[in-house]
Amino acid sequence: MTNLKNDLLLRALLRLPVERTPVWMMRQAGRYLPEYRQTRAKAGSFMKLCCTPELACEVTLQPLRRYAFDAAILFSDILTVPDAMGLGLYFVEGEGPKFSYPVRDAQAIKKLAIPDPESDLRYVTDAIRLIVGELNGQVPLIGFSGSPWTIATYMVEGGSSKEFANIKSLLFDEPELLHQLLDKNAQAITEYLKAQIAAGVQIVMIFDTWGGVLAPDKYREFSLPYMQQIIQALPHEVNGQVIPKILFTKGAGPLLADMALSGCDALGVDWMTSLTDARTYVQDKVALQGNLDPSVLYARPEIIKQEVSKVLADYGNGPGHVFNLGHGIHPGIDPEHVAAMVEAVHELSPQHHNH
Ligand code: CP3
Repeated sequence: MTNLKNDLLLRALLRLPVERTPVWMMRQAGRYLPEYRQTRAKAGSFMKLCCTPELACEVTLQPLRRYAFDAAILFSDILTVPDAMGLGLYFVEGEGPKFSYPVRDAQAIKKLAIPDPESDLRYVTDAIRLIVGELNGQVPLIGFSGSPWTIATYMVEGGSSKEFANIKSLLFDEPELLHQLLDKNAQAITEYLKAQIAAGVQIVMIFDTWGGVLAPDKYREFSLPYMQQIIQALPHEVNGQVIPKILFTKGAGPLLADMALSGCDALGVDWMTSLTDARTYVQDKVALQGNLDPSVLYARPEIIKQEVSKVLADYGNGPGHVFNLGHGIHPGIDPEHVAAMVEAVHELSPQHHNH
């Protein structure tokens, strides 16, 4: 059905039969790998790494040289879009991302331009073309963006946040203004993901890391509809090959039921919801991706294997499961422990598919 040598992930995302459960890992290219730290040091900064296509390509491929993962994920960041909208992204060592020009009032929102991805984010599409060439069909490449809401939290707060004071004030006091910002973000992300697909990504994932800080009615008003708007504007297929769309809201819980109706093909599930419950919420309408607690990887390999087996059993039998962590891998994890996780999925998952 594809020209990929390994299309397990594509099949699982479309809930087609597979011989074993495919596996990849959020933040699989990152600081837990010594070779990543080396390339990052050579680049001088995280942003330099993102903005130099050859280096972004190199770190995207690093985890695949070590582990039998079933996908590559583009190395970039969700905050490149607001950076291209003129907010001035920079990273302070140990403090995370910051914006020079946060967006707080009507004037700032009006001023935001929708970036042209092939010029303003050219370094991303160039990286994709390089990666797809290097992968040569070995595994699919996942492209991604942040959700309109999650990106808005960084744009309005000016960086990471614990209380979301500014954006929640905006949400309650001036909801129309926030809707204008979210609509601009949705337009920018749609163009960005269309350009990623045109450049060669075979799957797209939307990261809604902060959707779970919203009350359910607010999530249904300020996050989900904008993700749905994006999904519906993206091509269903390219050259006869369906482009699966994955939504991940951290802390979604029972809202997975609403998300399953968005038109996406699969939902990412964090480790606070069991896959058994998640499957009940989505009623087999979509595939599920997840959800090993990332801190399991601090444990000994035998324990990791046990926990992997529990996640596989929680999903149960049949197609539609993609093994992943419930959120990104922590920087302090021993790379050998990731190998133990991948081996356990390879060894233990076939029994869930031979029915
Ligand atoms: O999964 C992958 O391997 C692809 C790469 C990827 C990165 N960021 C690289 C990165 C992806 C998919 C992201 C998405 C992202 N970025 C999210 C959503 C996913 C999630 O984890 O919830 C968010 C919220 C961001 C914003 C962001 N980027 C923060 C808050 C930080 C700093 C926190 C930290 O971990 O240091 C980043 C930096 C960042 N993005 C790093 C990496 C590998 C660490 C940079 C470094 O090398 O210092």
